Amino acid sequence: MKAIVITRAGEPEVLQLQDYPTPQPGPDEVLIAVKAAGVNRADVSQRKGNYPAPPGVPADIPGLEAAGEVVQCGEAVTMWKPGDKVCALLAGGGYAEYVTVKEGQCLPVPDGWTFAEAASIPETVFTVWSNVFQRAGLKAGERLLVHGGSSGIGITAIQLGKAMGATVVVTVGSEEKGNACMQWGADAYINYKTQDFEAVLADEGVDVILDMVGGEYLGKNLHILKPEGRLVYINAMEGNTPPINIFTVMTKRLTVTGSTLRSREYSFKKMLAADMLQKVWPLIHAGKFKPAVYAVFPFTQAPEAHHLMESSRHIGKIVLVNDPEMNTGKD
Ligand SMILES: NC(=O)c1ccc[n+]([C@@H]2O[C@H](COP(=O)([O-])OP(=O)(O)OC[C@H]3O[C@@H](n4cnc5c(N)ncnc54)[C@H](OP(=O)(O)O)[C@@H]3O)[C@@H](O)[C@H]2O)c1
Repeated sequence: MKAIVITRAGEPEVLQLQDYPTPQPGPDEVLIAVKAAGVNRADVSQRKGNYPAPPGVPADIPGLEAAGEVVQCGEAVTMWKPGDKVCALLAGGGYAEYVTVKEGQCLPVPDGWTFAEAASIPETVFTVWSNVFQRAGLKAGERLLVHGGSSGIGITAIQLGKAMGATVVVTVGSEEKGNACMQWGADAYINYKTQDFEAVLADEGVDVILDMVGGEYLGKNLHILKPEGRLVYINAMEGNTPPINIFTVMTKRLTVTGSTLRSREYSFKKMLAADMLQKVWPLIHAGKFKPAVYAVFPFTQAPEAHHLMESSRHIGKIVLVNDPEMNTGKD
């Protein structure tokens, strides 16, 4: 098969189309003919050599989510059959003509959605669902603050937060991004380049914060959380060792938590997928959750897709789609 391979750690141009052995599905795995793959910030870190793939997935093919058609099933697979259209959460290997994945990490492509749209949601929906709802326990009527509101993660958090009855405030780096977040349903935005989110939110407070910035945001986050508030980390792009005022945590009885999805065990991912099928897929069918695809590139333009992601100009998801050069057959 063909795959987009990280030929060495470096700039986006190290992503190159190469021949690669076609993976074989294990007993509880399906082989998917990939039609589209989502691009994530983590792919950029992996390409730079800062985020190695966990064991069991190709070390040099990025791609944490994909959509396509099941072409082969392991002998123990019961959920899918060849011809089924699925989107899947992967631990790597999505930028390829074929990928294998455990059957429980696949979900059906929603009716009427393109493969590009379906490939844009597994990573963000799994992440937001497990962190904002399962871990931080966001409830209807509460106030959620989402940092990086215009990211793929951010727009998913806006949509799910609103669908579940929360008020959603986001931080963004430009007015254009703020306006886009309002279109996606946010109740308010704070442009962190012109306003201090701590000063804006200190009086009213928030119940839950989803943060991927880290650094000096920690102290500000703790300050604006209401008593019993929950702060959940999914990254720390501006630093992971900020000082913490333990007394603020104690006196307001705060919870500071976080998680990484990629390295989690299969049983957890399978449980999450089943939960999302029950709770998120009905929102999709009801038109309350929509794909946020900002840009689509053919696989062979993966370097351009990574340049766009690193520019942070995008609002929502960047997706790679199959092109003729990727259609070579299995071997
Ligand atoms: N823990 C997990 O399991 C997990 C899973 C998935 C994603 N994540 C993390 O969630 C975050 C969002 O992922 P994504 O793929 O949706 O990202 P993305 O679309 O690339 O968005 C990241 C956005 O964050 C904002 N930002 C703020 N500070 C930044 C900084 N120091 N460097 C870069 N961007 C900064 C930028 O928007 P502004 O212009 O508004 O600043 C940027 O567009 C990433 O950090 C990713 O690693 C974690």
